[in-house]
Amino acid sequence: MPKTSINQTSKSQLILAIISNAGGSGKTTLATHLAYELARRRISRRPCSVALLDLDPQGSLSLFCGLERPSQASQSISSVLSENFSSHWPLVPCWKSFGLKVDVCQSIQQPLLKTADDLVSHPRGPYMLADQLKDYPLPHDVVILDCPATLGRLNLIALGASTHILIPIQLEPKSANGAAELLEFYFIESRRLRLNPYPTVLGIVPNQYRANQAIHKEILQQLPNVLHQLQLGEARCYPPIRFSYEFSNASGAGLPLQLHRKHHSACQDFREIAADVSNLIGAK
Ligand SMILES: Nc1ncnc2c1ncn2[C@@H]1O[C@H](COP(=O)(O)OP(=O)(O)OP(=O)(O)O)[C@@H](O)[C@H]1O
Ligand SMILES: [Mg+2]
Repeated sequence: MPKTSINQTSKSQLILAIISNAGGSGKTTLATHLAYELARRRISRRPCSVALLDLDPQGSLSLFCGLERPSQASQSISSVLSENFSSHWPLVPCWKSFGLKVDVCQSIQQPLLKTADDLVSHPRGPYMLADQLKDYPLPHDVVILDCPATLGRLNLIALGASTHILIPIQLEPKSANGAAELLEFYFIESRRLRLNPYPTVLGIVPNQYRANQAIHKEILQQLPNVLHQLQLGEARCYPPIRFSYEFSNASGAGLPLQLHRKHHSACQDFREIAADVSNLIGAK
């Protein structure tokens, strides 16, 4: 079985899939807030650059980034996942006025669903995004993939393209089972796709944590054990992202919380994850 490379030493582009089989667990929130945290950092005295790719037909990344949804498939991720890809990535900048280098490849529901169906019969289907990223590389230091909640074709494409994985979960009793199912998908499909190495699971990110809820504390304490049992001993259980209604307000304004309410205590909840990712790409 190919081994995962937990201690990656090379400082090459990192392709990070944010995956979870639970709807509303915070995938898009984590993708956008982590993109912001990374884009604030520097690599060899230049700003760190981030590409956000929306692999979810719902397309909520556009909303969270304050972007208008594109009207044509050629302006969306489905044009990339096609044999006729022109090599021109349909990226639009976001939060540019804040001096950040974050570019977004948006999704449109129907074209992306059709693309996912078409890829079922394509011989390179699950590798389509990996192939395009290899043949027409993006210049960004980090590419973040915002994935849908269903473990179907689009998540396979993300798995096939990613170097690393982060798993946001809500602190509910069913979360441990959900995480186990997701990791089963990860192991079975990585093996079936003959990924070598398997993408590194950086860790689990507990989200919507309420310190006054006993069940949240209890599940949080059990998570390192769950990771251990799932043979992911080197993956981290990150400090939780606390619950705040300001997250919804921020995404409604098309901004990360750090730009919407910069003094909010939850802003610091993304820093440890960003620090780990920064270490992998050599950012400060
Ligand atoms: N820590 C938090 N505290 C409060 N609300 C949050 C938090 N994280 C996310 N939310 C809110 O929960 C909702 C779901 O979050 P998000 O869209 O990031 O989840 P998702 O996993 O991407 O969902 P989907 O499966 O639909 O793509 C959003 O309204 C978001 O603003
Ligand atoms: Mg989402």
